[in-house]
Formats: sequence, structure tokens, C-alpha cells
Amino acid sequence: MDKFDVVIIGSGPGGYVAAIRAGQLGLETAIIEKDKELGGTCLNVGCIPSKALLTSSNHFIFAKKEAGKHGIVIENASVDLAKMQQRKDKVVKTMNSGVRALMKTNKVTTFEGVGTITAPGKVSIKSSDGKTQEIETKNIIIATGSAAVELPFAKFDGKTIVSSTEALTFTEPPPKFLVIGAGAIGLELGSVWARLGSEVTILEFLPRIAVGFDLELSNMLQRSLTAQGITFHLETKVSAVKVDNGRVTATGNKGKEELKFDADKVLVSVGRRPFSEGLGAEKVGVELDEKKRIKVDKHFKTNVEGIYAIGDVIAGPMLAHKSSDEGIACVEHIAGKAGHINYDAIAGIIYTNPELAGVGLTEEQAKEKGIDYRVGKFPFRATGRAVANEDLEGIAKFIADAKTDRILGAHILQHAASELIAEAVSVIEFGGSSEDLGRTCHSHPTLSEAVKEAALNVEKRALHIMNR
Ligand code: NAI
Repeated sequence: MDKFDVVIIGSGPGGYVAAIRAGQLGLETAIIEKDKELGGTCLNVGCIPSKALLTSSNHFIFAKKEAGKHGIVIENASVDLAKMQQRKDKVVKTMNSGVRALMKTNKVTTFEGVGTITAPGKVSIKSSDGKTQEIETKNIIIATGSAAVELPFAKFDGKTIVSSTEALTFTEPPPKFLVIGAGAIGLELGSVWARLGSEVTILEFLPRIAVGFDLELSNMLQRSLTAQGITFHLETKVSAVKVDNGRVTATGNKGKEELKFDADKVLVSVGRRPFSEGLGAEKVGVELDEKKRIKVDKHFKTNVEGIYAIGDVIAGPMLAHKSSDEGIACVEHIAGKAGHINYDAIAGIIYTNPELAGVGLTEEQAKEKGIDYRVGKFPFRATGRAVANEDLEGIAKFIADAKTDRILGAHILQHAASELIAEAVSVIEFGGSSEDLGRTCHSHPTLSEAVKEAALNVEKRALHIMNR
């Protein structure tokens, strides 16, 4: 029987990154993956393929609507969706082989099959040909991730009622595309198909989109997406979905009003649930919380000795980078080192155009907590680079402690917000102030100057705007 120091169940960005770190630290490591390819949801049917389609569809919009402003003449720009999908598949394949190579170079043994914990220190692996083998290990890390939540009245059929997985593989844009849930998935995939020609309607239960992000910027994003042709119905709770002859009818309740929506396909993007069942964890006594997430301590240890859990299967935001960092900290703890995660410095991003990014406290959260705070904002349109790029939308916004000036939150709406937010994450990680960031020399002309100016504007001293 093979014996390991660490066996990781699940090869998403939590599991495979944990495996790399374990390999680096010289631990005898194995990773078990039930799917053919490594990389989990993020790499195969989530973050990576969606970014491939978002980029391609964005290029199409540029060719169709923006190129002319730059003096570039593109007549009759059109989409070859099969080719676009092939490129997306190629992107995923490239990343798959990258992860496989990383397992090899870090001497991680990979097993294909369903991993089940049979006892602390024992994992059985059932491969697709029905064969089972058992391996022994000092430590087990559960990194099984999450699955899309199904609505009881709208079970996924993979064709008409779809999850994000199928919404990434359409062979033609559905003429009418209905989206339930205005979170990251609904907004990103709604954007892709709206750009490629679908009439997109998004239904959201709450009175706002992008819950969890700063309200002011979320509202700006909603206005922008509306101008791009997406229709929103907020405060609309979907209560029934019927499929008849391949067409969908959904019923939504907005207060006392009953609304009907018809469409060719409906994406249900109302959240994800932890993938914590059926892996034997409960049988060996691992405790779950009320949301079926695996309970862990600050070192990601469950209540059972030698069993750990990281990523979407435990509490916290369901984000790839959060899972990866937890994987690293967990393995470092196992190896006797001090791993640490600062949950106040984990950014969330929605990759629409403009992108919405946020880290730390939103203004609403600062208010709710009764914190004495100051706000600094700056519009991108007041920077030379945004004007030169013809990318005028969005603002940068900081929330800083009124007494100490420590940055408590940073929020960016801009085409490149996903990259720009990294600076604010670093400053928050180091406990920096808005003055620290505002006094840092930023290259000109760059979009990052708007971030600096927003930080300066906490003290109402931004340079390229009228403050009085
Ligand atoms: P979400 O939890 O972010 O948003 C779901 C939305 O659906 C909520 O606003 C909720 O109010 C609404 N909703 C729920 N039931 C409804 C009903 N019956 N009728 C109308 N609206 C309803 O979930 P989403 O977008 O599915 O994402 C799942 C997870 O994956 C999230 O944790 C998200 O952060 C993560 N993710 C992150 C991405 C990123 O970082 N860019 C991309 C994709 C997913």
C-alpha cells in the first residue's frame, strides 16, 4: 500500500496549489481527482474558460463598436463562434497540461478516481473502470470545492435550464437568454452572450446587483451593463420555471406584481454549495456546519486528527485565490511552518466590462460597523491614460479610518480593475494608509494614477480634479 505524508482530495486551485507547496517542502504528496483533467471547476469550467470567452467577446465589441473611434475601419465584424469556442478549449488544455507538468516537477503522485476517506489516514480511490485501491497517509486535505446550487423548481437539464458549465459551451447565442441571479456568474456570462447577440434579461431577488461589492460602484456597473443592452429586474424572486417545447417560461414576483419571462435558455446562477458529502468525511466524524461546510480551525484542521479542509468546502468567499492561499497555509502548518492568511486582504472581482473589483470593507459595511471613516474617490476619465485609451468609465474609491488613515477598503470599476486592485491589496496587507499610497510615485501616464488620486482624495487633495 502506498504511503504518503499528504493526500489531497480535489485538484482545483486549492488542491493543486497545496500539492505544489507540499512538494516544495519535501513532503511525499498525492493528489486525487475524479475528473480526467486536473484544475477543478476554476480551470475547466469556471474562471479560465469564462475569461477566454469574456476576452474574445470583448474583442468583438471593440471591432464592432469601438474600433472606428481609433480610426480603424472594420466592416461587418462577425463572430465565428465555433472558432471562439475552440480557442477557449485550447486555453483550458494549455492550462491543464501546465498543472500536470507542475505535479510532475514537484514529484506529486496523481490518482484519477473518486477519493473516499475510509478512516483517518486511509483513502480509497475508485477509478472510472471500477477498480478500487487504498492509500495510506499521515494527513488528508479535503479540497473538493463546490457545485452550482439548483433551484427546486428549475432542475438543471443541461440544455434549456443550465448552470455556468453549459452556458460556457453554447454553439450559438440563444436569441433570448434569461439569467437568474445577478452575482459574478450571472453578470459575466450574461455579458458574454449579450455581446455575442443574445437578448439578455437578468432577474435578481435583491434590490441591487453584485451583492458583497460597494453599492455605489455596483449601481454604476448596473447602469453600464444596461447601456450595453442587458435588462435587469431587481427585487424579483423567481418562483417557477417551466420548459415547454424547448422554450422557457419563468415566473417572478416583484412585490405583489407577478411577472412572466420567456426565453430560449435560462442560466441559474444563484450561488454554489460546498461539495462536502459522499467523501466519507462525515463517516469518520468530520463535523459540518449548518450550511454543510466543513468546520475547520485557523490552521484548516477539522475536528478529526490528520484531516484538513480548504477552499469552497469551508466557510468564506468562494474564490480561487482564497482557496490557493488556504492550501499553502494549510500545508505549511502540516510541515511545521507558520502559514497565515489575511482575510481582510482578499479581493473579489467581477470580470464584466468595466470590471468591478473590491477588497476590504465596503462603505455600507463601514457604516454598519459604526466605523468613523473617510472616503476618497477619483474618476478614471480624469487621467490621461484613460482618455488616450478611450476607456472613460469608472472610478477608484477608498475607505480609510478617519483617525488612523489606515485603508479599510478599496473599490475599483474600470476595464482593468482586476489588475489595478492588486496595489490596494498589497497596501492593505501591509497595514498602509491612504497617505502611504497617495505619496507613492505612480508612473505617468497609467490608469494606476487614478488609484493614487483616489487615495489622495481621502484628504480632498487629488490633483487632477476640482475639489472645491
Ligand atoms: P452569488 O451568490 O454571487 O449570486 C447569486 C445571486 O442570486 C444573489 O444576488 C441572490 O440574491 C440571487 N438569487 C438567489 N435566488 C434567487 C431567486 N430565486 N430569484 C432571483 N435571484 C436569486 O452566486 P453566483 O454568481 O452563482 O456565484 C457563485 C460563487 O462563485 C460565488 O461565491 C462567486 O463569488 C463565485 N464566483 C466568482 C467569480 C469571480 O470571482 N469572478 C466568478 C464566478 C463565480
